[in-house]
Amino acid sequence: MRLRDITSAPLAQGTRVLLRVDVNAVLKKGGDGRFDDFRMREMIPVIAFLLRKGCRVRILGHLGRPNGRRVPRLSLALFSKRFEALLGRQIIFVRDPFSKDAYTRFNDANIILFFENLRFWPGEEKNSPSYARGLARWGDLYVNEAFSDSHRDHASITGIPKFLPAYAGIQFCREVAMLSRVRKNPRRPLIMVLGGAKVSTKLPLIRYFLGRADRILVAGAMANTVYGLSGIEIGKSTAERMPSTPASPGLFQKSVFLYPEDVRVAPYRSISRGRITTKHIHSLSRGDFIGDIGPRSLARFIFEARRGRTVIWNGPLGYSDMKRFENGTRIFARALSHMHSFRVVGGGETAGLVHRLGLTKKFSHVSTGGGAMLEFLIGKRLPGIAAVKK
Ligand code: 3PG
Repeated sequence: MRLRDITSAPLAQGTRVLLRVDVNAVLKKGGDGRFDDFRMREMIPVIAFLLRKGCRVRILGHLGRPNGRRVPRLSLALFSKRFEALLGRQIIFVRDPFSKDAYTRFNDANIILFFENLRFWPGEEKNSPSYARGLARWGDLYVNEAFSDSHRDHASITGIPKFLPAYAGIQFCREVAMLSRVRKNPRRPLIMVLGGAKVSTKLPLIRYFLGRADRILVAGAMANTVYGLSGIEIGKSTAERMPSTPASPGLFQKSVFLYPEDVRVAPYRSISRGRITTKHIHSLSRGDFIGDIGPRSLARFIFEARRGRTVIWNGPLGYSDMKRFENGTRIFARALSHMHSFRVVGGGETAGLVHRLGLTKKFSHVSTGGGAMLEFLIGKRLPGIAAVKK
């Protein structure tokens, strides 16, 4: 797939570049502004590139789903500060890019501008042309560095390119190249590792890879859901309520799937402090909570992953909201990082953890995309990619 690559765009001193990034992150509880900034770090190379070319950079992004309303805790002000620290450059935070006053004061400024959460205005998700035009007037050229948003037909993804020459960013081009390799021509055996909360969002992926993957390893709440569907007692563990229709549970009983046989369990009444024990999946009681993959199953998962010449991993292997249940995922990440196959990791939490462990460089590719990566892998047309295609 050929994209209009920003590194070959005609950039001159002073070109105003509207740069769409994806900094969307889960804010940690406690209101102290802690969040995983791995996506922000991935945006640094393109910003540095644009600054080296003398461009005036205007950064656009979103956080959460405020539904077209100003929600103070979802403001990007904090992210603007974090970018300032990461870049070592002053940034002006523009609270209202549609105000005449802001435009008059800052449009010509030779300084980086960072705009407030685009989803505070209904026009963003509705993809309103007047909203897109209002943003486009701030730039001479548009760059999409938000591959992880390219499945959204929103104004800042597909609307602005109708008014400005549009290009794909550095990370964006890399994402498309690496994921295309997995989708089109994966070296076999191909092993998929799926965890995280929702089976339903990953069902299309599972269906697509059913005939293509040699093994699909399923853990985390996804596995709990399958156990639940098969009538296995999972106590009070996290699981998704599945509609009875989607070819389940039969689909999940195919021999290509492998699920944990042993799990790490805590009493539900005291998940955060109760003693964690290892149990066989068939010996759980009603008050149990599955927190993590068990040691035997983890060893089996690692063994299976080692057989792959291509490994795709999306989603934590345990209950990722609590550090005490992160061991399985951590050990798996470390083991995978030492393998020699083509290894792609994606999904916000999984990629975030790989970054925190300092293992990013040890994988063939760590995707910033969650939903976008899944849709790309099953061959869906992503509107954000279409907007920057040659
Ligand atoms: C993501 O976090 O995957 C992207 O930023 C898309 O977010 P959304 O699902 O809220 O559109």
